[in-house]
Amino acid sequence: MRTNQPQTIYLSEYRVPAYLVDTVDLRFELFEDGARVHSTLAIRRNPESEEGAVPLELDGDSLVLESVALNGQDLAAGEFEDRGDKLIVASVPEKFELSVVTWIEPQNNTRLEGLYKSSGMFCTQCEAEGFRCITFFPDRPDVMARYKTRVEADKSAYPVLLSNGNPIESGDLDDGRHFVTWEDPFPKPCYLFALVAGDLVEKRDTFTTCSGRDIDLRMYVEPRNAEKCDHAMDSLKRSMRWDEDVYGREYDLDIFMIVAVDDFNMGAMENKGLNIFNSSCVLASKETATDAAFQRIEAIVAHEYFHNWSGNRVTCRDWFQLSLKEGFTVLRDSQFSADMGSDTVKRIEDATLMRTAQFAEDAGPMSHPIRPSSYIEISNFYTLTIYEKGAEVVRMIRTLLGPELFRKGSDLYFERHDGQAVTTDDFVKAMEDASGRDLSQFRLWYEQAGTPVLEVTDQFDQGQGVYRLTIRQSIPDTPGQADKKPQHIPFALGLLDEHGKALPLRLSVDEQDAPTERVLELTDAEHVFEFHGLTEKPVPSLLRHFSAPVRVHYPWTREQLLFLISHDPDGFNRWDAGQRLAVDIIQSLVGQPKDTPVDPRLVTAYRHLISDSALDQALVDKMLQLPSEAYLVELASDADVPAIHAARERVLKHLAIALRDDLVACYRRNAGDGDYAVTPEQVARRSLRNTALAWLLMINDEEGRELALRQFREADNMTDRMGALRALVNSEYEADRDQVLGDFYQRFQADPQVVEQWFSVQAASSVAGRLGKIHDLLAHDAFDWRNPNKVRSVVGAFAGQNLSGFHAEDGSGYEFLADQVCRLDDINPQIAARLVTPLARWRKFAPAYRGKMKAALETVRDKSGLSKDVYEVVHKSLV
Ligand code: ARG
Ligand code: ZN
Repeated sequence: MRTNQPQTIYLSEYRVPAYLVDTVDLRFELFEDGARVHSTLAIRRNPESEEGAVPLELDGDSLVLESVALNGQDLAAGEFEDRGDKLIVASVPEKFELSVVTWIEPQNNTRLEGLYKSSGMFCTQCEAEGFRCITFFPDRPDVMARYKTRVEADKSAYPVLLSNGNPIESGDLDDGRHFVTWEDPFPKPCYLFALVAGDLVEKRDTFTTCSGRDIDLRMYVEPRNAEKCDHAMDSLKRSMRWDEDVYGREYDLDIFMIVAVDDFNMGAMENKGLNIFNSSCVLASKETATDAAFQRIEAIVAHEYFHNWSGNRVTCRDWFQLSLKEGFTVLRDSQFSADMGSDTVKRIEDATLMRTAQFAEDAGPMSHPIRPSSYIEISNFYTLTIYEKGAEVVRMIRTLLGPELFRKGSDLYFERHDGQAVTTDDFVKAMEDASGRDLSQFRLWYEQAGTPVLEVTDQFDQGQGVYRLTIRQSIPDTPGQADKKPQHIPFALGLLDEHGKALPLRLSVDEQDAPTERVLELTDAEHVFEFHGLTEKPVPSLLRHFSAPVRVHYPWTREQLLFLISHDPDGFNRWDAGQRLAVDIIQSLVGQPKDTPVDPRLVTAYRHLISDSALDQALVDKMLQLPSEAYLVELASDADVPAIHAARERVLKHLAIALRDDLVACYRRNAGDGDYAVTPEQVARRSLRNTALAWLLMINDEEGRELALRQFREADNMTDRMGALRALVNSEYEADRDQVLGDFYQRFQADPQVVEQWFSVQAASSVAGRLGKIHDLLAHDAFDWRNPNKVRSVVGAFAGQNLSGFHAEDGSGYEFLADQVCRLDDINPQIAARLVTPLARWRKFAPAYRGKMKAALETVRDKSGLSKDVYEVVHKSLV
């Protein structure tokens, strides 16, 4: 057990920095047994600080201090104090130069924060607080400086030496070494610092900006990945154009670089001019990456690129403001993806992620507002709430203001705060100032945690022709927050007549030319809206496009839902009605005898969908997906996962049996698509045929089996090969399963990104991924505890996707996860803290499971030397 309690950091204790840094001059000597970092900082007292001539305090972590000099004079032992996590110089002048030399060991850095090695190359990850693992520095985002960085290393092992900005000098040194010096003209916080040294191939392209400047685009990857760069490069160029067109943002430096590294804690990082990516989020070829991966890569390349303005030019004052850059940037990348593909499909994907995973987070022990007011370890706050709910909140501002005023607001924000480190409140203020709208109540979205619940009831007054909609708003209590105030919610809706015609929404008797869709603004705990001039009770289509991240409760009848599935003019709500119907039907079967009948209307609705080739096939594909187990669990209280799993599977098999011939026809209709391209049409075709395969194999269909085996052998792309593999892995054809898994591994064993997919398709499978199998995967040659992608693809996939395996009745899944979290905590605490999440939600589950989950969590709590990352999650979930 740990003895010292980790400190909580509070937003209310924010103080401006006592000292500012104007320039940073770095020299890295990179060796195999470590690295020496020479840092010279031009420091001055902050005129805005009231602290005066206080001691200088710099942050540090795992550094060996070699020397400290002030204005060129070495400091004697008594003139500074090295406390490990702080370097303190008691007495400093108003303005001075501080030179610090530190020794670090990148080759032993398994936390992957600061400078570390990944398959032979040196690379960095400094957000949020990694720079302090490189040298002593005021490691906070409101200290912005200009950087000059000289990198020295062996020339044959590390021919490529990169840092932020532009290269200004290079040359050879003694002993086969060389150097390159980089200079970044833009002041930046240290979390945006980056360095790369390795034996990498370079891919080049150019982009001409709207003002006619030619930007040099470069990707650096290991030689074996040289053929997997085109998609990311194309995505980058599309992002650069889009940001000019849609947000008026032009790129600023002359070079933009992307580097792929295999060992990376997150997806990617927006370091100024030198983005570093997890290989799995940037490298793709049709043979090795699925359609989903192609789309994810496009989105992440865009996301990191967009940060150049929303994050780098305008950055965060402190880490409580993280959503300032992340929420806004996620909104921007999601708008971009919608523009590159299908708006409705993208909205369905975003809403699914929110409702499945963010709502769960918001209802769990780590629930926090998008601007938290305290944290123990900031790495734990790179969450779905900060990112996805943060994006939804900015999207609501856009909905309330309309696209033109929103653009005016973003222009004002960028102009007003260029070069500054600011707060979410500054962002909202810019939106208010540009639009003239009052967003004071809206600001509660930044302060209050929890998912608002809207209880909607309705009533039709035949005599008056008035339809009355009553909407009550409440926000559940969350840790540290009770009795919340009503929030300002944009609520989009439409009303349909019995033929599915969209009715004009007249809010007064005499309103002329009323629109058929409106965004109502909810501000009170209860509202009653009256719609006039109606002759019959309409069917409401509520919260269109998921206009706010809230739960809507309305007493839908299955008839109404079936009606909306086929009639709602809003594609998103057609899908939503389908989900609600399927949820209702599955829920009604949970814990019921096996022979309880499945509502035949579901079969009819699905048959229509599968065979209607006039409908947008991308939407059909989404509508065919049953609500996931994770979503059904999220909706349940006292969740009994095996029972939920059984009920869902029962419905799936029932549908597959009833629609067997339609599925074969769907497969054949969607087979083959010419030259592979990631267009919405092709993606939908591939997804439809792979869904058909998966369903056919669920019911042991011989023809389905043959189709799957043939598709597996003949596929010319990973989407189809993986589709067939997944269908077989999740089937009862055990011999085939072993055969294709073996073939697949043989073919792709040299490619880590594919091996990760091979791990996760097994670990995530309720059929193939039993605990014994998971242990085998951990013992596999290709598994590596130090590689986060491998850990996620086995341990993460098991606990996060193979829910019935993880929630095995004997508690073995929980004990397993607790063991792995403890083991990982010593290697990489950030990853360990992520992995523990499924256990931390123990209160959500049925009593028979809860106790065992809690017990497993307690073994983690009692581990000696627990990191503060895991400490925070475990303790908050046990209080
Ligand atoms: N800023 C990066 C992004 O846009 C993520 C960095 C994550 N860092 C961390 N320590 N968790 O997505
Ligand atoms: Zn980001």
